[in-house]
Amino acid sequence: MKPSELVQRAITEHAAVSEFVRNLDETVAIWKAKEVDDKINAIRAFLQKHVTDHFAYEDETIFSALLAAEPDANTLRVVKALQNDHKAISQDVARLNELLAQVERGGDGQVMAQLEMMFRMLLGRLQRHAAEEDKLFAALSAK
Ligand SMILES: [Fe+2]
Ligand SMILES: [Fe+2]
Repeated sequence: MKPSELVQRAITEHAAVSEFVRNLDETVAIWKAKEVDDKINAIRAFLQKHVTDHFAYEDETIFSALLAAEPDANTLRVVKALQNDHKAISQDVARLNELLAQVERGGDGQVMAQLEMMFRMLLGRLQRHAAEEDKLFAALSAK
C-alpha cells in the first residue's frame, strides 16, 4: 500500500477521537454509566483502541512507510517528535491504568474525580498530537 493509503486509517481514527471528545459530556457511556465497572470498561476500551492499537499501527506501519517514501531531514525530525509523543502519552496511560485499578479496588469519589480529570487531560493531549500528525500526513499525501 502507498503511504497515502496507509495514513487513511489513522486520519479516520483521529476524526473518531474528535467526535468522541465533542460528545463527551452528553452521550458517551463513560460519564453516563451508573455502574463504576461500566465506566472503567469504557475507558479501558477507549485507551486500547485509540492509544495502544492506534499508536502501534502508526509506529509499525505508517512512520516507516513515510520515512521510506520521504527520507528527508524534516520528515525524520517530525516523525521522531511524534514517536516521543507516543512514549509520553503512553506513560500517561500507564498512570491512568493505575487510577483505574484504584477505582476498581473501591476508590472514593476523590479518586474518581482525579480519574476524570486525568482522562480529560489525556484526550486534549491526544487531540493535539493527532492534529500534528494530520498536518504531516496531509503534506506527504499531497506529494
Ligand atoms: Fe500518533
Ligand atoms: Fe495518530
